[in-house]
Amino acid sequence: MIIVFASNNEHKLREIKSILGNSFTLLSLRDINIQEDVPEDESLLEGNALSKARFIHKATGMNVFADDTGLEISALNGLPGVLSARFAGESKDPSANIEKVLTLLCKTENRKARFRTVIALIFEKKEYLFEGIVTGTIIREKRGIEGFGYDPVFLPDGKNQTFAEMELAEKNKISHRARAFEKLREFLNQYTLSNNKETI
Ligand code: IMP
Repeated sequence: MIIVFASNNEHKLREIKSILGNSFTLLSLRDINIQEDVPEDESLLEGNALSKARFIHKATGMNVFADDTGLEISALNGLPGVLSARFAGESKDPSANIEKVLTLLCKTENRKARFRTVIALIFEKKEYLFEGIVTGTIIREKRGIEGFGYDPVFLPDGKNQTFAEMELAEKNKISHRARAFEKLREFLNQYTLSNNKETI
């Protein structure tokens, strides 16, 4: 089965290919020759993921999914959320984003936060949403050099290593993205199984 992932992020593509396995042929935007900027200007993760998926579905008619992720901090009423990549400005500088978060939280005892990934799937012309969440706290200083984005200040609940101190495989066992993609995988596998039953 062929399915388009509305992204050109090689790192994510590899990660998702390994989660979805060989039953699916995953194509990136580059693979289907889409050069345009995919819209990403909604105020919710759900809206962004859906608008990306709808844009590609409209252009190609193919089965497609898109994802959007944000760090949601309780004391900041869910910010940076949908603004996570460009919280400190359009240069999308991860260090500046982290500095901004730490400055905003410097006098705050409530350090609760979560990463949330939303996947929007358009499959056989119907829309579906899948969500993955990991909860944790924002520590006061960066720790670790692995990962990306806010990983050095995010300590997942029940762990004593930040995401940036963990091996990627360790992070992938519990991450928001892995949880959301696991749900997508289950959905697609279910579909494949029931479809096969019908045709036997
Ligand atoms: P995207 O929707 O996956 O592109 O993520 C948007 C932004 O959220 C990224 O630019 C990062 O700032 C942040 N982010 C997403 N996933 C992670 C993660 O696993 N660790 C740290 N930051 C992340």
